Amino acid sequence: MTSPRSALTSTPEWQELKTCQERLKSSPMRALFTDDPGRAKRYFIDGAGLSLDFSKNRLTDDVLDALMALARRCKLGDRRAALLGGEKVNVTENRPALHTALRNPGADSLVVDGVDVIAEVNSTLKRMDTFVQEVLSQSRKGYTGKAFTDVVSIGIGGSFLGPKLVTEALQPYRQPGLRCHYVANIDGTEICETLAKVNPETTLFLVQSKSFGTRETLENSKVARKWFLDHCSNTQAVASHFMAVTANTPAAQAFGIDPDNVFPMWDWVGGRYSLWSAIGLPVALTVGMDNFRALLAGAHAMDTHFRDAPLEKNLPVVMAMLGIWYNNFWGSETHAILPYDHYLRSLPDHLQQLDMESSGKRVSQHGESLDYQSGPVIWGGVGANGQHAYHQLIHQGTRLIPADFIIPLQTHNPVATHHADLFANCLGQSRAMMTGKTLEEAKAELAAGGWCEADVERLAPHKVIPGNQPSNTLMMEKVTPETVGALIALYEHRTFVQGVIWDIDSFDQWGVELGKQLGQDILPRLLKPGAESKASDSATDNLIELFRKSNRL
Ligand code: F6P
Repeated sequence: MTSPRSALTSTPEWQELKTCQERLKSSPMRALFTDDPGRAKRYFIDGAGLSLDFSKNRLTDDVLDALMALARRCKLGDRRAALLGGEKVNVTENRPALHTALRNPGADSLVVDGVDVIAEVNSTLKRMDTFVQEVLSQSRKGYTGKAFTDVVSIGIGGSFLGPKLVTEALQPYRQPGLRCHYVANIDGTEICETLAKVNPETTLFLVQSKSFGTRETLENSKVARKWFLDHCSNTQAVASHFMAVTANTPAAQAFGIDPDNVFPMWDWVGGRYSLWSAIGLPVALTVGMDNFRALLAGAHAMDTHFRDAPLEKNLPVVMAMLGIWYNNFWGSETHAILPYDHYLRSLPDHLQQLDMESSGKRVSQHGESLDYQSGPVIWGGVGANGQHAYHQLIHQGTRLIPADFIIPLQTHNPVATHHADLFANCLGQSRAMMTGKTLEEAKAELAAGGWCEADVERLAPHKVIPGNQPSNTLMMEKVTPETVGALIALYEHRTFVQGVIWDIDSFDQWGVELGKQLGQDILPRLLKPGAESKASDSATDNLIELFRKSNRL
């Protein structure tokens, strides 16, 4: 017996898209380009300093219309207004998701549960202004009176990935004087290697944790504090070297951080959307507050575009609906993020958390099982390096892999003809994905290369590239605070729009809890024989034994 179709899959819009998919199966993109020379200009939109060429997709005007009709059927406009207006869109945690308010300090007010969040945002930005100014001007110093030279940011997940991405992305805007390091993992190597590089007299530690309950962050912070006290043996000095960003000030205080050194976070900011809050302090310390505010302004410009642009010309909406098209109608299982820019090398990592924590859901926001696929696997890496690694699978593997190529038109580092070379590689890849190479073309190429007929027949099938692999090309003039802000906000909204279509709660992440609990249950058994455990099975027990033996415990 088949289960009844959900409200989504039984809509006429969904059914229409299925019909479109059937129709388009026999029209590869190559043919679409030949038949319609105007498509490149028609399937090109821009907003907030970003431009999107989405012509290299399995797309016709009918499909685009049908995708937008589905978005309308899912009440995207209302859901977007609910998000931006501070309604409790995170239904399972009964909270708004107001990251957009963090980048809108110029707004009049936005009252949530009796509190004006814009006033909170502005007062925190003001505190950040003062703090960053004091550190960068060297009026705030370490316990021996020396200026700070290093910042160690300790945090994981959203309290790490976004700030790390932006710190790297904005290196051309780096202020002189401060180096920024990130420690995330409970792998002791990371904190040890970092501490080995810094001097306790001149190092500022930022403990970054919305909950102030994340084990990795707390254990690393304890190691950092012990290392610090081993060097200076003055507990008072902790106050001038340890700061925290958290929504849980009492826990930060209990850890020993002076409440004056705690920057606030709020329930209405999700971890993976928190880089725009004081969690962005490592960024602000690296590039200065003016650039941090420019980052916020870029993100705000994308928020405005998302709010106001018609759906067909709306960057996050178009990109989201193309993702739905492949995920739900063509059976793609992954989505590749391919930045062709060294400064954006950590974008795939950040988007992995953003998208996979948000869209890794199997029930609707009302708790009903989904009868359609939700979020794909997000992966990727910097081009052109990927061309010498996983692109082979994109070109000749058996899977459908939609990809986003992301590239600035100008580089910060003009050297020889590198940037033109990089751009050519980027275009070459997306064109190869689109056109592929037919058997006839492969044969002709081999014959022209002087191969005998038998070899031509033998080798040609190996040289065939099916093509018809979809891609977007997303561009900005240059990697700047504004364009980086807009780029990240674009993907946040893309993720939100897909969540609206799938009718999931994009802002919770209950799935990560079980593994955390089991880890905590297993830990005492690694350290002490006979410790009580709920997490017992023959595989876990064997591996615990192996660890204990190896470490003579
Ligand atoms: O384990 C997942 C998670 O809760 C993420 O959503 C979050 O970004 C990360 O852990 C870190 O959480 P916190 O900032 O509370 O330490």
